[in-house]
Amino acid sequence: MGYNLLKGKRGIIFGALDENSIAWKTAQTVHDEGGTFVLTNAPIAMRMGQIDELAKKTGSEIIPADATSVEDLDNLVAKAVEILGGKIDFVLHSIGMSVNVRKGRAYTDEKYDFTAKGWDVSALSFHKVLQSLYKADAMNEWGSVVALTYMAAQRTFPDYNDMADNKAYLESVARSFGYFFGKEKKVRINTISQSPTATTAGQGVKGFAGFISYAEKMSPLGNATAQDCADYTVTLFSDLTRKVTMQNLFHDGGFSNTGVSQEVIEKF
Ligand SMILES: NC(=O)c1ccc[n+]([C@@H]2O[C@H](COP(=O)([O-])OP(=O)(O)OC[C@H]3O[C@@H](n4cnc5c(N)ncnc54)[C@H](O)[C@@H]3O)[C@@H](O)[C@H]2O)c1
Repeated sequence: MGYNLLKGKRGIIFGALDENSIAWKTAQTVHDEGGTFVLTNAPIAMRMGQIDELAKKTGSEIIPADATSVEDLDNLVAKAVEILGGKIDFVLHSIGMSVNVRKGRAYTDEKYDFTAKGWDVSALSFHKVLQSLYKADAMNEWGSVVALTYMAAQRTFPDYNDMADNKAYLESVARSFGYFFGKEKKVRINTISQSPTATTAGQGVKGFAGFISYAEKMSPLGNATAQDCADYTVTLFSDLTRKVTMQNLFHDGGFSNTGVSQEVIEKF
């Protein structure tokens, strides 16, 4: 169902790898709401993923960019403005990767060059994206930028490993850059703290299957799916949320404010 909430708006969507990706669902939903956009991902992900299919379905162009490379990001921003025919109204940062997690290194046994790489990809990349947009003056007034995060930034989930620290940094960037982008360009910047979701990145976390079921039973409304996240993101890109900025917005069926649920008690 479409409400034309994004009619006439132009954007950049990072991170659609396959049809499970939150960014994939968001791209489809933005398209249904009348928005146009360019898709981007790391060059390596282009080879592994099915982004061409999504581009065809949504009538979008793809511009490869490694989100850790300022040169790639500057090029992406310039090309997006050119292709879309004007400044940008919305951006989705949907990027995450921990080398320590991938290599099975525990939080108490981090290899610090892995840590630094994961931080660059998952957290600093958000600052780099924002700085490229800001310096190029590429955002329209009342534009909106959203990045995806997880509650491990506030509370400890042992297997989330160094991604917890990366998400804490990412959320802080949204507040800090949100100040300058808001004051000077009337652009809003928020993070959505999403339920565990069965995607490539999500399933990389150890014990994911048990964890997603636990969260489902702890959340009064059940876990938010990738499609739910896409719908919520569209509201944040729309003109209906123009004064929401510098927030970390929990989108988790109530998990973050639930101490325990009846279902979980019954398990014991
Ligand atoms: N899945 C979950 O349980 C969950 C929960 C909360 C938040 N999130 C966050 O949602 C976001 C999207 O993840 P997802 O779950 O859709 O998984 P996903 O694996 O589909 O997406 C992650 C994306 O990051 C991209 N990426 C990795 N390195 C990159 C680089 N150097 N440059 C550009 N892109 C790069 C990947 O190619 C991929 O498209 C991430 O920030 C993730 O941490 C996920």
